[in-house]
Amino acid sequence: MKRIAIFASGSGSNAENIIQYFSGSDEVEVSLILSNKKDAFVHERAKKMGIPSYTYNKKEFDEAELILETMRQYEIDFIVLAGFLLKVSHPILVAFPNRIINIHPALLPKYGGKGMYGERVHRAVVDAGEKESGISIHYVNEHYDEGDIIFQATCKISSNDSFDDVAQKVHQLEYKHFPQIIEKLVLNK
Ligand code: GAR
Repeated sequence: MKRIAIFASGSGSNAENIIQYFSGSDEVEVSLILSNKKDAFVHERAKKMGIPSYTYNKKEFDEAELILETMRQYEIDFIVLAGFLLKVSHPILVAFPNRIINIHPALLPKYGGKGMYGERVHRAVVDAGEKESGISIHYVNEHYDEGDIIFQATCKISSNDSFDDVAQKVHQLEYKHFPQIIEKLVLNK
């Protein structure tokens, strides 16, 4: 069995979708949710789905000692960032080489970098008059949104789409593709 930890800071709809996708699998399981926000809705989802979830503060994520101890305790093989807003610290990157991926709600390298997350990304895309947006799944390195891109998918934007319309289209792409890409990577398929 390969064991995944999901890091999430917010609502956790991707986390829930990924948990659902692997429920019943005998090859992959989501074993753990970690967050930097104790009131993030992802904890409610984890509780409902019977997955342990813990909160650590920024300093604990940076120092990584407790995080890595928890990873060992749960025998985690792979880390998935799903709406996680802190930079992943060096000790965590070193402990999981090429085994940490992120999903970004736009077509990187555009609309990435520090401070570009969630709604802010969709607003920037609409404000720029883009005709398409999409998702980028990429490896995580020490710079925000700069690791090698593994997969992208696009959606059309029409001239009267609001940022919320774009967010919904992008979320649909995330729900459709992210679990399958995780499965391929985790199982080396
Ligand atoms: C997702 O759209 C994800 O791509 C984005 O945050 C959202 C989290 O939604 N991530 C980033 O913007 C990272 N820079 P969720 O909490 O409902 O899964």
